[in-house]
Amino acid sequence: MVCLGNICRSPVAEGVMRHLLIQNNVQAQVDSAGTANYHTGEAPDKRSQKSTLKHNIDISRLKARQFTRKDFQEFDLIFVMDQSNYQNVCKLANSAEEKNKVRLLLDVLSPGKKQEVPDPYYGDESDFEEVFTLVHSACSVIVETLIRHRGD
Ligand code: 4NP
Repeated sequence: MVCLGNICRSPVAEGVMRHLLIQNNVQAQVDSAGTANYHTGEAPDKRSQKSTLKHNIDISRLKARQFTRKDFQEFDLIFVMDQSNYQNVCKLANSAEEKNKVRLLLDVLSPGKKQEVPDPYYGDESDFEEVFTLVHSACSVIVETLIRHRGD
């Protein structure tokens, strides 16, 4: 799960995804990162922590890190929050195969519409709630897909 700072959107996506995987007994590795390094080592934004904790998901112990080329080897799928993240991550891909791993997260809800999870950094609590709702809907679809293709 990738955004710009790895403190607002992608830690929510990591926490929600891990929660849904455990709840559904699906084995998969999930992590998050930012395309920028401004917030490396920091815990998620307090507003992200608060909005996820409202849904009983604790992301307080996550630590921001920057996305690296190695992540292409480590992960089968790389979900990004917006078009700018998409461009920045694709720039680091070494092959068409790596680039093909990169998907806009909301494409799982509305394929091809290029919808984004809006950056809530300069927003208020309602913007963080919107992030949670969008991310939760998308992660639910991903987990359902993993269950459907279990054993493939
Ligand atoms: P995120 O939000 O990409 O969802 O973690 C942001 C966090 C920090 C900044 C921008 C967006 N920033 O400019 O520092």
